[in-house]
Amino acid sequence: MVVAEASQESLKQRLNVSGGHALKGTLRVSGAKNSALVLMTASLLSEETIELTNIPSLTDIDGMSAILEALGVQVSQGADRIRLTAAELNGSAPPYELVNSLRASFFSIGPLLGRLGHARVPLPGGCRIGARPVVEHIRGLKALGAVVNVEHGIVTASVPGSKKRLTGAQIVLDCPSVGATETILMAAVLADGVSTIENAAQEPEVQDLANLLNSMGAQVSGAGGPVITVQGVERLRGCSNYPVIPDRIEAGTFLMAAAITRSPLVVEPVIPEHLSAVIQKLRDCGCSIEIKGRAVTITPGEITAVDITTQPFPGFPTDLQAPFMALMCTAKGTSVISEKIYENRLQHVAELQRMGASIRLEGSTAIVEGVAQLSAAPVTGTDLRAAAAMVLAGLSAKGITEVAGLKHLDRGYDDLEAKLSAAGAEVKRNIP
Ligand code: EPZ
Repeated sequence: MVVAEASQESLKQRLNVSGGHALKGTLRVSGAKNSALVLMTASLLSEETIELTNIPSLTDIDGMSAILEALGVQVSQGADRIRLTAAELNGSAPPYELVNSLRASFFSIGPLLGRLGHARVPLPGGCRIGARPVVEHIRGLKALGAVVNVEHGIVTASVPGSKKRLTGAQIVLDCPSVGATETILMAAVLADGVSTIENAAQEPEVQDLANLLNSMGAQVSGAGGPVITVQGVERLRGCSNYPVIPDRIEAGTFLMAAAITRSPLVVEPVIPEHLSAVIQKLRDCGCSIEIKGRAVTITPGEITAVDITTQPFPGFPTDLQAPFMALMCTAKGTSVISEKIYENRLQHVAELQRMGASIRLEGSTAIVEGVAQLSAAPVTGTDLRAAAAMVLAGLSAKGITEVAGLKHLDRGYDDLEAKLSAAGAEVKRNIP
């Protein structure tokens, strides 16, 4: 289905979530959206084929495939794998409306510049959760020797001189931006000389990207820490069967689904060190959690209020702030939830209040007083993770909660209703 049709379709759709059903058994975690999308753009760095496995089935993956095909990449998708061959790139700019809806596609400016010596990519717009500038991405590309102009909403970058090759440089990020780290890393791997990225983002998705690049012949070290070092190479080869890491945000969402329904549950696969801060907070609020390899077993006790502040990795992830707030709405006591990453990522508060939650907003902080029982209501997910939070709230509310905003949900959760229903929830998608 073409991406535009998919999102039109899901505009009208609703998820009817009937509350009060316990979950049981196992919830399986798909490959990480925020890794798969960036790994797909890394295909631009080589004329050989790269094959990625454990690819989640999401509209964002389809969107990224469409963008890369528009650049000349051959894309073939299998059941849970995708093969990408960027032998012939046509030098065009990806279409604005696709870049605007799919932020990760802006990161393609890094590999395009590293491979071709020039790139034109539309500036990604802000979105509901914040302005989301790309200043750091542009600063880093300039440090590597690119001339970068932003005019009429298009970022044009080129490497002066006949060589058309970037030059290694020392880059210090003002903020540990995930996208900027990934964009600069993909530009630096083909640069002439050594680059260092200081104050780099340490998210697991950055590590996954570095691991893929090294399996393509790059020389990257330090990813996952605050300083990444890159020894530039002349060219990169392809690679086959590279597995995308499990989605830590989907896994965290599932753990919170278990907690909010007070259901013992197994969530797998999980790489435990990708969720340390989240596991700690779930333990603090009354869940016992057992880890055996890549399987996490959660057994909720009485849920009591705990405070969270969102931070760059390894702190508590902003992408789980909304789902955790839904859980705190049903906890005993008052929790303070501070959103420090995005300036406008508390819009789900109004939706939770419609379900009887008792929340007071003070700037970028929500003070949540737990209530005995949420009540079902028609609600809307205002961003990808807020939509997931509304589903969680619906799992515990009295009655049937009708959740709109599925075009967000379908971007980042692979068949959420089928997974939850298979574990005992009653979640039905109604297509008017
Ligand atoms: C990635 O976005 C994720 N998206 C986001 O997930 C996630 O919330 C975010 O990292 C933080 O973890 C993808 O990986 C595709 P940032 P990204 O650059 O790279 C500010 C989801 O729900 N900033 O680390 O765009 C920015 O405004 C999505 O799956 C600057 O100030 O995030 C934001 O406040 C949502 N200047 C903060 O840093 C810059 O130049 C984090 O942004 C760049 C960013």
